[in-house]
Amino acid sequence: MAILDMSTSGERTLPDPLPADPMPLLLAWFTEAHERAVQPNPNAMTLATVDPDGRPSARIVLCKAIEPNAGYLVFHTNYRSRKGRALEANPRAAVVFHWDALDLQARVEGPVVRAPASESDAYFQTRPIERRVGAWASDQSEPIESRAALEQKVAEAVARFGVAEVLSGAAAIPRPPHWGGYRIYAERVELWVAGNGRLHDRACWERRLTPGADRTFVGGMWAATRLQP
Ligand SMILES: Cc1cc2nc3c(=O)[nH]c(=O)nc-3n(C[C@H](O)[C@H](O)[C@H](O)COP(=O)(O)O)c2cc1C
Repeated sequence: MAILDMSTSGERTLPDPLPADPMPLLLAWFTEAHERAVQPNPNAMTLATVDPDGRPSARIVLCKAIEPNAGYLVFHTNYRSRKGRALEANPRAAVVFHWDALDLQARVEGPVVRAPASESDAYFQTRPIERRVGAWASDQSEPIESRAALEQKVAEAVARFGVAEVLSGAAAIPRPPHWGGYRIYAERVELWVAGNGRLHDRACWERRLTPGADRTFVGGMWAATRLQP
């Protein structure tokens, strides 16, 4: 018996032995966070990128898909935003999920590619109309002199697609070419379960990614390692 209480804070621990592939477990945690509605945005993740001048920057984005077989996560944004410019210069990212109520943290790192245009088109059309208008109206991350000026840009976008059509929800609004999805290919995954006395249960998985056809990557075997907390 351990001298100290080394249990994790809930019932959960990382599987022992560790699974060969961490992606199904990551997806299971993501799904559980949604099903148990543990927080308002269970798909929120902090996305860290490196600016063209080498400085790191981080912000929250929403993870719209985890594809365990293909081995990537998806989020959407403006390709000309600060993060978009960072990713064009340094196409790698790190993301962190924190499901506080579940005592879980998950980290994913790897190369980033733009999602295929057809996929971004399809997703864009599922967005509520005000978000589709907003994607045209906002030059994300650029300065603007006032809130009124932003509202003017929204009004111009609405006029462009037809006021009556936008108000009725029937406007045909295509995806702006500067807006779309990114795929973060998982090259390193770290899963963390909170433990008593800060003796957290922690492991990482790493693999080599080889460029495949059409801006994809093919993953090699994962190497799993338990880490000290
Ligand atoms: C809960 C939450 C979800 C967000 N989701 C997104 C998102 O999916 N895509 C996005 O571009 N920005 C999202 N944002 C806004 C970003 O955090 C950020 O302000 C914006 O993308 C500009 O970042 P940048 O200037 O570093 O490019 C979200 C913010 C919050 C708080």
